[in-house]
Amino acid sequence: MKPTTPPKTYRVKSFGCQMNVYDGERMAELLAEQGIAPAPEGEDADLVVLNTCHIREKAAEKVYSDIGRLTKGKTQQKAPMIAVAGCVAQAEGEEIMVRAPAVSMVVGPQAYHRLPEMLDKAVRGERSTDTDMPPIAKFDALPARRKIGPTAFLTIQEGCDKFCTYCVVPYTRGAEISRPFKDLVTEARKLVEAGAREITLLGQNVSAWSGEDDRGRACGLAGLIRMLAGIDGLERIRYTTSHPADMDDDLIAAHGEVSKLMPYLHLPVQSGSDRVLKAMNRSHSAESYLRLLERFRAARPDLALSGDFIVGFPGETDAEFEETLRIVDQVGYAQAYSFKYSPRPGTPAATMDGQVPREVMDERLQRLQAALNRHQVAFNQASVGKSCAVLVERKGKLDGQWLGKSPWLQSVWFTGTAAIGDLVDVELIEAGANSLEGRLSRVGDAQQTA
Ligand code: 5AD
Ligand code: SF4
Repeated sequence: MKPTTPPKTYRVKSFGCQMNVYDGERMAELLAEQGIAPAPEGEDADLVVLNTCHIREKAAEKVYSDIGRLTKGKTQQKAPMIAVAGCVAQAEGEEIMVRAPAVSMVVGPQAYHRLPEMLDKAVRGERSTDTDMPPIAKFDALPARRKIGPTAFLTIQEGCDKFCTYCVVPYTRGAEISRPFKDLVTEARKLVEAGAREITLLGQNVSAWSGEDDRGRACGLAGLIRMLAGIDGLERIRYTTSHPADMDDDLIAAHGEVSKLMPYLHLPVQSGSDRVLKAMNRSHSAESYLRLLERFRAARPDLALSGDFIVGFPGETDAEFEETLRIVDQVGYAQAYSFKYSPRPGTPAATMDGQVPREVMDERLQRLQAALNRHQVAFNQASVGKSCAVLVERKGKLDGQWLGKSPWLQSVWFTGTAAIGDLVDVELIEAGANSLEGRLSRVGDAQQTA
């Protein structure tokens, strides 16, 4: 590779989960700190970071085709310097270096704080790979958060020890690691000072977070939430994603006691069939999942539920798929994510017997999504007539129109006088499948719930 002039502009393209969105934001901040500016919309960037996801589909092939488009002038006029980051970088780093000579840097999710050094090398014409997994050294090495919008992500935990048999995360993101309590409280305070009014605590297995509080006592996610709820100016707390095995009594109680903790829970079930759940190594049954939700609802009756589903796991029969449809009806999800099973190299399920044909998966996914959609519409319709606080996130397309989120994470739009970051009281007056219309009742610091 030839030496080159240092890049003046960058673009980070993030794929996949919220964790990747967070990582993408942090990489952008890191590059900005090196004096590199974000490339304006529609203009070429000197440096493109492909922040990849490996969880489903042919992610690696997509990376190679993205690289091809960048180098052949299809995405932008001049070929940029290219960095591949994220989970594909972690899983296939060496291969990317061999197959894609146009890539200057390959950096795994635990190593991206080293981007500045790698960038210096790239400018000198040296290619480099860093897919080390040191225990979260990166968080200390990253720059402080600058001015941000009213909602912010805060990664509190990374990695996963659950080893669901379909999932690549334990291999790409490594073992579960919790960031220290003190660092998180400090970072949350800084986020609030920088403008955040809502913080979403992130982790592949956020409910497995554990630490020691400021008095040295063992503390779980609920303890952390209670502490963060004491921060003045922080109005809303959310967390994602959880595993049913880690939801303890204290967390359930916190949903009833901490008014800043929003009435929304994303708790993946994946399947409604106990045989499939066992083959997935999920450690819960359909029944134990339903009982757990009952306890959450007892603590917080208006809790909105969300989940993840996989159709076509190896060996899934029609009858087993019907059990998934049944659990969807039993829970009545406010919204959910559903996926076709995708074999991930190196995971146990990829070599299991009974791989389900694509047409069968397509048909099951359609039926599942129709059912989930029906419940989402019903949930939104049942919200009509309620009053709630909306956190204003951005302007709408029309003059005087604003968009924000309800406590139940529904998108709400309304017309009137407001500003980004306001918590306004609205009455929900009309429901669509994906958003609701609100009527402004009062601007200012509204109550959190209906
Ligand atoms: N195929 C399909 N979906 C998957 N997920 C994880 N791995 C796979 C896979 N191999 C889904 C699960 C998980 C979500 C983040 O992605 O539903 O909860
Ligand atoms: Fe993957 Fe299961 Fe861990 Fe979630 S809990 S990240 S699905 S292994």
